[in-house]
Amino acid sequence: MSQRNIASGPFCGNLAPTLFWRPQVSESIIADVVARTAARCRNRGILIPTFAQQRDPRLVPQSVQDELRTIGLWDVHPRNLFRITWKNDPKTGLFGPVNRLEIPRELTGVRCRIIGLVGKYFPTGAHKVGASFGCLVPRLITGQFDPTRQKAVWPSTGNYCRGGAFNSALLGCDSIAILPAEMSRERFEWLRSIGSEVIATPGCESNVKEIYDKCHELVRTRGDEIVVLNQFDEFGNGLWHYEVTAPAIREVLEEVAGPSDRIAAYVSATGSAGTIAAGDRLKTWYPWCKVAAAEALQCPTLLRNGFGAHRIEGIGDKHVPWIHNTRNTDMVIAVDDADPMALIRLFNEPAGREVLLRHGVPEETVSKLDLLGISGVGNLCAAIKCAKWLELDEHDIVFTIFTDSM
Ligand SMILES: Cc1ncc(COP(=O)(O)O)c(C=O)c1O
Repeated sequence: MSQRNIASGPFCGNLAPTLFWRPQVSESIIADVVARTAARCRNRGILIPTFAQQRDPRLVPQSVQDELRTIGLWDVHPRNLFRITWKNDPKTGLFGPVNRLEIPRELTGVRCRIIGLVGKYFPTGAHKVGASFGCLVPRLITGQFDPTRQKAVWPSTGNYCRGGAFNSALLGCDSIAILPAEMSRERFEWLRSIGSEVIATPGCESNVKEIYDKCHELVRTRGDEIVVLNQFDEFGNGLWHYEVTAPAIREVLEEVAGPSDRIAAYVSATGSAGTIAAGDRLKTWYPWCKVAAAEALQCPTLLRNGFGAHRIEGIGDKHVPWIHNTRNTDMVIAVDDADPMALIRLFNEPAGREVLLRHGVPEETVSKLDLLGISGVGNLCAAIKCAKWLELDEHDIVFTIFTDSM
């Protein structure tokens, strides 16, 4: 660790009592259900990877790696559970370094380095498949979810629902996806195609309450035939990021940082506040690292108690999730949703790309900007604001997450 890392400075001294907080899930075991689940997995050839294997796929057995050569990234095949990792190599179909993209100074205009982990190469195309694994698997292996008689309910407007239904299919579990009727037809068709029961609730992206009303109704009518996996209060959501995302960031940091460089901040927009839990782990290694929550200016929830509507799909709406360890959140950054909407065009339309090239953004970066979806661009905007606010310099590195892609 460099002198700079351990030296006191503007970011040190934030040793709040919650610094070593780790999301906890219940570990109480229901033995007869575990036995049934194990038999079912054996019969169906399902192997469940450990967090250690998802962190470091070199630990994945060679026989599994051999099988993966003939299995597509999005195939509904149980071996794809091993591809719930930041390290899928899109070229070989196997594993490589952590997928990340550094956004250079020519584009950010700030002195520090900004690096985002790239979610595109997860099965389903979004990092959220990891969080849903984190919600279901601890329950499955402890017997708190019984796949022989229960259905996993995934309430969400977007990637969580997709990830949850996908994981359920891979794990041989029945699932129910609950999402607003106005979501795209492709989304409904895909969910049905992987075998999920699909329930449409009134409204659009902002009608989260209606989804949860439906959950309550299902609990009343179906009792314990269902288990609702609510991403806002399932600590397994944050746990996955604590165990897998944070170590991926550390690995990139160790690869790219010079002797006098340091991680200065971790920036993550909060939807369910699962992704930001990687910050809890980062603080145990780098106590000076600021953890910044980003949210839409048009729906300022941590900043102004929550009102309004915004266009950054996937991030928060007017409530603070139960799993958000706000005591480890040092800053809240508002992003005007007009910025990611405009930047998405700049990054993806030919005329926009020409402008970027003319302004000296390297071709290599420009050609990869479609790796950022809208909330990824929102995270980039927040990372830039964070760098400016903290007056970060060339030795500072800000990490963020490019959750999904265009
Ligand atoms: C595209 C996208 N961005 C950001 C988020 C927010 O992540 P989290 O729910 O972990 O806070 C999500 C969550 O579903 C998402 O789908």
